[in-house]
Amino acid sequence: MEYGNSTENGIGKSNGIGNGHGIGNGYVNGHGICNGHGNGHGIGNGHGNDNCYVNCNGKVNGEKVKKMKPMDSEMLREQGHIMVDFIADYYKNLEDSPQDFPVLSQVQPGYLRDILPDSAPDHPEPLKELLHDVSKKIIPGLTHWQSPSYFAYYASSTSVAGFLGEMLNAGLSVVGFTWLTSPAATELEVIVLDWLAKLLQLPDHFLSTGSGGGVIQGTGCEAVLVVVLAARDRIMKKAGKNSLSQLVVYASDQTHSSFRKACLIGGIHEENIRLLKTDSSTNYGMPPKSLEEAISSDLAKGFIPFFICATVGTTSSAAVDPLVPLGKIAKSYGIWMHVDAAYAGNACICPEFRKHIDGVENADSFNINAHKWLFANQTCSPLWVKDRYSLIDALKTNPEYLEYKVSKRDEVVNYKDWQISLSRRFRSLKLWMVLRLYGAENLRNFIRDHVNLAKHFEDYVAQDAHFEVVTTRYFSLVCFRLAPVDGDEDKCNERNRELLATVNSTGKIFISHTALSGKFILRFAVGAPLTEEKHVTEAWRIIQKHATEFIHNKKK
Ligand SMILES: Cc1ncc(COP(=O)(O)O)c(C=O)c1O
Repeated sequence: MEYGNSTENGIGKSNGIGNGHGIGNGYVNGHGICNGHGNGHGIGNGHGNDNCYVNCNGKVNGEKVKKMKPMDSEMLREQGHIMVDFIADYYKNLEDSPQDFPVLSQVQPGYLRDILPDSAPDHPEPLKELLHDVSKKIIPGLTHWQSPSYFAYYASSTSVAGFLGEMLNAGLSVVGFTWLTSPAATELEVIVLDWLAKLLQLPDHFLSTGSGGGVIQGTGCEAVLVVVLAARDRIMKKAGKNSLSQLVVYASDQTHSSFRKACLIGGIHEENIRLLKTDSSTNYGMPPKSLEEAISSDLAKGFIPFFICATVGTTSSAAVDPLVPLGKIAKSYGIWMHVDAAYAGNACICPEFRKHIDGVENADSFNINAHKWLFANQTCSPLWVKDRYSLIDALKTNPEYLEYKVSKRDEVVNYKDWQISLSRRFRSLKLWMVLRLYGAENLRNFIRDHVNLAKHFEDYVAQDAHFEVVTTRYFSLVCFRLAPVDGDEDKCNERNRELLATVNSTGKIFISHTALSGKFILRFAVGAPLTEEKHVTEAWRIIQKHATEFIHNKKK
């Protein structure tokens, strides 16, 4: 470390500690003591006095230092450019210098506490110094979800349009909890969710012009929670206030864990959550017969079946529950059916995948996660309901301080009554930008590319006799494993577990795993926006290379 040059002319002492190279001048010199840490190195070396927003109680060059404004348009302009450059460089480097970005972070727990100060600074620090810390201290602790070699879980899809939408949202920072508090935020959400519903060919009753409508929840977990609450209140109006302990819900054993959590939050007794068994005979989709039997059995015992959660594209293996027969059962018993299509629902904007949500006509609610596979950066979870009043009745609040007069009362939506929280982000802006800046046909093609890349990987697996594809692939997820030798499933699980750990420890790719029928399964999910065929081919090469250690009995 060198002492940097304190070039400013303020009066008094400046401890401009300039770390390293670059210009890095101690930038602040009010009188009195000002600890300007001028870290010159890293991103964009400190030039001159550009950090003069630092307002100690003094003067710079004899001029009174302006009081710092939290939202200063000129500072925003200057620093916003720096930030955009930083982020653009990140994406470029992810592609050009993958060796510098282990896809799965390789740090150890607690690594950050050792390298960050114990307490917040009393005085402002320059953005460039902070970005230097991001590069050196934060980025090593990131798992690079946007890396082209990210194939774990389901992707968190980003795009320039989604990014710009987030940026605009952050900049405008309006809070549209009622129509009044930002009419455009509410009205755009209504319109954009109608657009998206039409792209998905959802039935008319999910449109704002029908009995229902759409709302953007933060996450899939929030989406399932609000519909469980709506369905619970609907049934309790009929069954009585004391019926909670009799209420029963159904889903498959592949359903996302958020369903159980939503039920527990909603007061549903844990023992009344029926998770129906699935297996390879239905490719892990919920068997309608099991549902019918469970409902009959529960009714015979005096329980009140009120909710079915079906999934199109399960988290584990992208299994698809058969909506047509499930919907018929739901309808015949008057049970609310929700369709969780968090991942695969996005693909249903393509006509060739739309068949997977055939039967959604009989659902009461449906959600997708546009942040998973519709290029709408985290987070954005559109939810549609068939009867908006069932949701509103469960969630509405009417405090005097939010009352307002409006000429066409029946035409306004107050989204606070469609969600848990009051405050809400202007997420439709982002979705609108994604839809407008790409157009539906490009979005369909992005999705098709991912599915084709997954198919490519599946072909590699199928051609190698040491491996096997474990489930029928519908979308961009391939479930596969090293095949058992001599039928030894335990040893097979162990080898696959080790293969996963070895492959991920290279930092070159990141894949994840699941368990199906007691088998340890590897998951290869395509969905990161930078992934191309060469990345898939390289990923397969890495997996194959490490697998040879097991295949030739060097290990185990
Ligand atoms: C099928 C399914 N449902 C729900 C969720 C939860 O979504 P979120 O993380 O947005 O709450 C996921 C997440 O992976 C999922 O795959």
